[in-house]
Amino acid sequence: MSETAWRRFEFAATPVVQPTPAPAPSAVPAEPPRMVLPGSRWVLFLLALVFAAPGCRMDMHDQPKYKSFRASAFFPDGKASRTPPEGTVAQGQLRDDELFYTGKVDGQDSELFPLPVTRELLDRGQERYDIFCSPCHDRVGTGRGIIVQRGMKQPPSFHITRLREAPPGYYYNVITQGFGVMYGYASRIPPEDRWAIVAYIRALHLSQAASYGDVSEADVAAVEATR
Ligand code: HEC
Repeated sequence: MSETAWRRFEFAATPVVQPTPAPAPSAVPAEPPRMVLPGSRWVLFLLALVFAAPGCRMDMHDQPKYKSFRASAFFPDGKASRTPPEGTVAQGQLRDDELFYTGKVDGQDSELFPLPVTRELLDRGQERYDIFCSPCHDRVGTGRGIIVQRGMKQPPSFHITRLREAPPGYYYNVITQGFGVMYGYASRIPPEDRWAIVAYIRALHLSQAASYGDVSEADVAAVEATR
């Protein structure tokens, strides 16, 4: 607001005080104030409004439809949900890529990723890891996240030898199924994001066991400068 506009506002907001004239002395006692009831026409109008208002919504969700697993009088088996015809799969639901969906090859945890590990995948994995895993496993995977500090069982560090050597398919499975007291994430993290997280955990493995030889001189200088 410019200064002049503000002043105008201030001026307008200043209450105007009008002097009240002193009541004229009178001999006749003042009549007591009468209570004014709203007219019956108003009452009718308000009542009509109250009854009419709920009828004003006519959305698409108010229409005859079946909800999943409801009963139906239409189909002979009495069920609203139909079984897909035998031998068919709904579009987009064919999970024939064993490695991608289960993390296994011939029943064994896969040593390979089912998709190329790119910079984008790692970035995505970092973001998802920080959201879904770091509350317990902490940002670098040592297992001292904030929930653990508040009393949840401490998970093992991802940097112990057993877990460093565990194949990607093992991590994929732990995310999908859960492990011990850790619940599974199948319903919350789609398969591709699970792989992204596994790739990022691999990056964490590297980060926690890296030596100066793994880093460029410029990066070493940058790290030294922060000391
Ligand atoms: C609410 C806390 C919590 C969250 C969130 C969580 N975990 Fe865990 N995780 C645990 C606990 C606790 C254990 C140890 C379970 C046990 O031994 O009963 C564990 C164990 C593990 C293990 C080790 C399994 C083994 O062989 O010892 C892996 C790997 C793992 N979690 C990965 C993940 C990943 C990846 C995420 C994110 C998608 C994640 N966790 C999210 C609590 C959590």
